[in-house]
Amino acid sequence: MTEKEILNSKYWEDLRSKSALAGITLDEDINPRDFETYGNRLAERQLSIIEDHGLTATSSSRILDLGCGIGRISRPFSDRFSEVVGVDINAEILAVAKEYIGEKNNVSLIENDGRTIPFQDNHFDYVYCGGVLQHIPDIDVIAGYFSEGLRVLKPNGILNFSIQTWMTSRVGGISSPRIGAMVLAKDIDTLLNETGHKLIAIYDDVEDPVPHFNIVLSKRDPVAAQKSITSRASDPVRISSNDVTPRKLRTGIFEDLPSYTQLSLLWVNGRKRPITFFTAPEPKSPGKLSKNIKRIKRFLRGD
Ligand SMILES: C[S@@+](CC[C@H](N)C(=O)[O-])C[C@H]1O[C@@H](n2cnc3c(N)ncnc32)[C@H](O)[C@@H]1O
Repeated sequence: MTEKEILNSKYWEDLRSKSALAGITLDEDINPRDFETYGNRLAERQLSIIEDHGLTATSSSRILDLGCGIGRISRPFSDRFSEVVGVDINAEILAVAKEYIGEKNNVSLIENDGRTIPFQDNHFDYVYCGGVLQHIPDIDVIAGYFSEGLRVLKPNGILNFSIQTWMTSRVGGISSPRIGAMVLAKDIDTLLNETGHKLIAIYDDVEDPVPHFNIVLSKRDPVAAQKSITSRASDPVRISSNDVTPRKLRTGIFEDLPSYTQLSLLWVNGRKRPITFFTAPEPKSPGKLSKNIKRIKRFLRGD
């Protein structure tokens, strides 16, 4: 088996039994119309987040949707940005994306190797990766995508990546290949201290049954980045859970959509979990893990 097949199958084994729509939303009853509405609202929400931080979807913007799936976000983005590139490891899902997005000459869909972004440096204004890294169990792949995302981003461009917040392990997956590796606060510190780029925001999607937070960074040009690296050498960045802003990202996005009833109930009735930024040492025994794990298992069983 090649490395790409391993990366691909780890994620997709779990999804093959479901439809692409159900696999992506975790909602068995999702209908195509709701899926589309959900994607449009999610894209608008993402746009408002980047606009909060000074990037507007102007006609000159070029965006990358990393792990684009069937194009839930790429499609609405293509109405707003002049050029959208969807990259995904999975050829089958890209074939579905092609149909879902339809004929649009400002969208390209590209299969990658599961680790690298096949573009030159400083190419994109915005690099978005949502609902992907939190499912990847290999921490090196996640770290590699941060550095690849920053490489292909133009100076002053914005990177917005989502990462899981469950207390799993450094290799991810409690009982499901869908649960990605634990990202430590110190990983983000190291990234910021070593690259000199700017942390704009970390926000927690408090309503999501697959908990995650988004990290939003701005790429500095080489001179500004070097200056920042030098100043951080004596005063390193140390982020913590306190830097995370709870954001009701999904509320208002789809609770009026009929096929989300079940998930909504889960959120409404579910115990609110505290945000964890994994600064604690990795737990030795899974038996000692927090109540979060029980909740995850319950969720995975569909209780
Ligand atoms: C849950 S779907 C999310 C799709 C899309 N971002 C969305 O929000 O609708 C995750 C996607 O990530 C892709 N993926 C998983 N591992 C990947 C990797 N190592 N490199 C690139 N894409 C990957 C999968 O093929 C799948 O299409």
